[in-house]
Amino acid sequence: VTLASWSEARDEMMLKPDAVYLNAGSFGPLPRPVFERACELRRRSAVDPTDFMLRDLPRLLWRARERLGEFIGASPERLMFSHSVSAAVGLVANSISVPSPGEILLTDREYPTMSRCWERAAQRLGLSIRVIRLPDDPSDHARLLDLFRAEVSERTRLFFFSHVLSATGAVLPARALCRAARSRGIVTVVDGAHAPGFLELDVEALECDFYVGSGHKWLLAPAGVGFLYSRSLDAHPLEPATVSWGYGPPPTAPQADRPDRFGSTPRLRRLECEGTRDLCAWLAVPEAIDFRDRFGAERIGARMKALSAYAVDRLAALGAWVAMTPRSGRPDGGISAFHVPAGIDPDALRDALWNRFRLEVGMSMAGDRPLLRICTHFFNTEQDVDALADALRVLERESHA
Ligand SMILES: Cc1ncc(COP(=O)(O)O)c(C=O)c1O
Repeated sequence: VTLASWSEARDEMMLKPDAVYLNAGSFGPLPRPVFERACELRRRSAVDPTDFMLRDLPRLLWRARERLGEFIGASPERLMFSHSVSAAVGLVANSISVPSPGEILLTDREYPTMSRCWERAAQRLGLSIRVIRLPDDPSDHARLLDLFRAEVSERTRLFFFSHVLSATGAVLPARALCRAARSRGIVTVVDGAHAPGFLELDVEALECDFYVGSGHKWLLAPAGVGFLYSRSLDAHPLEPATVSWGYGPPPTAPQADRPDRFGSTPRLRRLECEGTRDLCAWLAVPEAIDFRDRFGAERIGARMKALSAYAVDRLAALGAWVAMTPRSGRPDGGISAFHVPAGIDPDALRDALWNRFRLEVGMSMAGDRPLLRICTHFFNTEQDVDALADALRVLERESHA
């Protein structure tokens, strides 16, 4: 098999040719075949709505579930689609039942809305929240486990943490953390919003209770793709926010997990079906995986890391931009993050980069410290990073003029 070249990756993106897009971690751009597939399905559903919904959709939905399951290492019977990570985490947080009194454990580097979601869940369940403070550089995994052991207690009921930190791209040792929690009877919910397409995933091997992820970031699937893997719905039954087809008392094994004629299983459909919705984004997931396959998973992983390391070097050479972690010369994947120098307004910088240089970057926060977040995906190039470094130099010179 001849793998496609990186310039082909860039040519296939729907991005305008003159745009430098370094923000796939917020909103991934679409490869043309993925966009066209979603459009084709939408056209089919417009032309023959009933035929599409009743006869095409079930087959396509199961195919998407199988393909995503294979990609992330989860069996399709345990994998439900959702419309976003927020919706999937919300489904767990809003309906799971754990004994009170007790604590929900989070880290201080969770995506802000996810922390809020668990704060609300804690209120509902009569629990309190405990927060593990992570070091700036979380690459010492033994130290992370020690931090976990120091905070956990017989009061800890549930542990929620990010597999890949949104602000910096650092990868946490999900398997070791889940195992440590599991051995203490603690429910684990892993936020893998950034994981699919960022690292090689084997969700079932993590031994977590729940794993959520998104398709619209590194996987380059359309917006509107989230998923929830659940290992233990018997032990931790959930209640859907919306009552629709499939709703009823939680179904029991073995029928609960048998593929049904809707592209689902009774257990999944009960949670997944939210009335009549446009599911074409979900159905285009196989094409997003096909697109990656043209380049090869290992090659993609190495390319993303190499570009991130290149970004760390290029920005460090400017002087004012200090990488977030001392070891970030070897980033875990396609994200590098830099402290925004004092006196620079992050939002104004971001707008200036786009408005003047057609350069899109991300901004994130580590506590109260703003970070410039650069996402280097496999469609990006060294020239993209050079363009960013040049633009930052121009803006810095102007600020001193
Ligand atoms: C770590 C993390 N969790 C959750 C989310 C929320 O994802 P969504 O917007 O798909 O609900 C994000 C979004 O960037 C994220 O980075």
